[in-house]
Amino acid sequence: MVRPRSPQVGDRPRVLSGMRPTGRLHLGHLVGALENWVKLQEQYDCFFFVADWHALTTDYADTGKINEHTLQMVTDWLAAGLDPEKATFFIQSRVPEHAELHLLFSMITPLGWLERVPSYKEQREQIRDKDLGTYGFLGYPVLQAADILIYKANYVPVGEDQAAHVELTREIARRFNSIYTEVLPEPGVLLTTTPKLPGLDGRKMSKSYGNAIDLADDEETVRKKISGMLTDPQRKRRNDPGRPEICPVFGYHRRYSKPEVIARVDSECRTAAIGCVECKGLMADHLVVALEPIRERRRKYAEQPRMVWDILVEGSRKAQRSARETLGQVREAMKLVFDFERPEKSRAAAATAARVHTSR
Ligand code: TRP
Ligand code: SF4
Repeated sequence: MVRPRSPQVGDRPRVLSGMRPTGRLHLGHLVGALENWVKLQEQYDCFFFVADWHALTTDYADTGKINEHTLQMVTDWLAAGLDPEKATFFIQSRVPEHAELHLLFSMITPLGWLERVPSYKEQREQIRDKDLGTYGFLGYPVLQAADILIYKANYVPVGEDQAAHVELTREIARRFNSIYTEVLPEPGVLLTTTPKLPGLDGRKMSKSYGNAIDLADDEETVRKKISGMLTDPQRKRRNDPGRPEICPVFGYHRRYSKPEVIARVDSECRTAAIGCVECKGLMADHLVVALEPIRERRRKYAEQPRMVWDILVEGSRKAQRSARETLGQVREAMKLVFDFERPEKSRAAAATAARVHTSR
């Protein structure tokens, strides 16, 4: 059966981004990526994917949770407002064309380019509990280049830490285009610049630090977590004046509270007119309201995991159609297309053979 082509929604430029399947997402993911993705889906032809092969580059020995983490993560994507009517969601390993392009790129990517990627050196030094001296870990940015270029993405929304990878993607595209023929457009970076929300203890919000507010947390949990949040450490007693600019609670106010509340906290904290307990309560009131629609959507999807899987299955099919198209052009450019794959050539050859036959 020939499937009808999904209609290209206008000629919108294409955006692609991926996330490793880490399970439930938290407020840091929402502010640092998902809110941006939700906006982008209105304007661009967006492809968002579960980067399960990327997870293997560091966690190859620990694959037991990929299925569960994928479901949880994508449930949170949908909860955040990502919409399968507007964007395409898929699982990397369900579009194995990424792997073929990765292999072809690996032939033309100089080792020096990979050894120079800043996150490579950093992670090799920092991560000591697993052996990252693998082929796959070094080649990680090549896989990322394949992820991006196989969809001819025009833009890649990423945080600062990923910008070097997109730069390498551009270099690989240039090298491919110059060795063979011009097939792959160079993608641009859309840097996500929203100010980060600190974790409950003031450090970067991270699951592994245990300082996160999860999108799946209910109201009571959110309030409890906030009541235990770190404040200005100099404000030990109720009467000590505080410094909102260094207090993580104030960072949340700035993002979620009404302007008059922000102004009030800003001044009353400095004079100890407001106490931290009240201040946190005010902030929690706002945050809980902001998270309510997310929790509501989450409940709906969490009750029907089948719906989430269907979205990924359908999206993976659609992504695969697009990936195959590019891969066809790549094979063509690299002269990896054979006569038997060209109906015109086989027919012409057959016709010649037939003519030779009948003229005899
Ligand atoms: N490397 C990204 C991360 O760890 C995930 C990722 C993989 C990605 N391929 C991508 C992001 C392509 C953007 C585009 O967060
Ligand atoms: Fe932080 Fe609010 Fe306490 Fe000031 S009053 S230190 S802003 S929690």
